[in-house]
Amino acid sequence: MTLELLKYEVLDGGVAVVTVNRPDKLNALNAQVMRELGEVVSEIERDSAVRGVIVTGSGEKAFVAGADIRELSQLTPVTGRDFAAAGQAVFGRLEALTKPVVAAVNGYALGGGCELALACHMRVASETARLGLPEVSLGILPGFGGTQRLVRLVGRGRALELILTGDPVDAAEAHRIGLVNRVVPAAELMAAAESLIRKILTRGPLAVGLAIRATLQADDGALSTGLAREADLFGLVCATQDFREGTAAFLEKRKPAFQGA
Ligand code: COA
Repeated sequence: MTLELLKYEVLDGGVAVVTVNRPDKLNALNAQVMRELGEVVSEIERDSAVRGVIVTGSGEKAFVAGADIRELSQLTPVTGRDFAAAGQAVFGRLEALTKPVVAAVNGYALGGGCELALACHMRVASETARLGLPEVSLGILPGFGGTQRLVRLVGRGRALELILTGDPVDAAEAHRIGLVNRVVPAAELMAAAESLIRKILTRGPLAVGLAIRATLQADDGALSTGLAREADLFGLVCATQDFREGTAAFLEKRKPAFQGA
């Protein structure tokens, strides 16, 4: 895997950090960044030593300031559809990981950058972050899942206000409306994201993976379908040793020793 516009490192304990590294363009997502992101997601899917993921942006100003507007400006109806579908597919694979994925939003998360953060399972933001979907200001609409994921996260009225005005919100407002899980001083951002992931990694790994799948199912169709799926996955987790260990450890007032089996 040769990466030029992404940085990828795996910290001890299997926490992968994916950094969009194009700070001179505020980490805007051009075709190469998207291709490299697809490769990194494949690597994370494949590498069982990776147990959780942090996604962030290089520099102090931006998480990701959107899709690359220079490239966007050349799209036709045919290439535009393919562009949106390809971006959705990469973000969809990131979201579908059964390892927790946290966005560390270190500055502007606009357009495709906000959509990247939305595709992560959770979002921790620095006090300096600004999030929004300004696409209508460019005469387009969000195309990397923003119209679908934002409404599910913050509700239709708030989502429509953000999407139709194109106005970004600051970190405090993003937190108030549920767009980000927590806000911390910029200097503490990576530590906060890492500590959230590391807490999750102390829990039963199979249970965490299945809980992600069950929770995402809630966004995908009728409540009755989601509940049936949840019950199926709940039954499946009851077949694991980790389930026996986790419940036994609680009852025996000791820490669980999960094996991922
Ligand atoms: N696509 C391509 N290039 C981008 C970009 C994007 N989405 N966002 C920023 N850049 C580039 C700028 O063109 C500039 O490049 P240059 O130095 O070669 O001129 C560089 O990044 C720095 O951005 P600049 O606009 O000078 O920084 P700023 O601090 O004045 O403003 C923003 C920051 C985020 C408010 C502004 O860059 C912006 O509005 N970006 C576009 C946001 C957007 O609409 N995103 C949605 C796209 S769908």
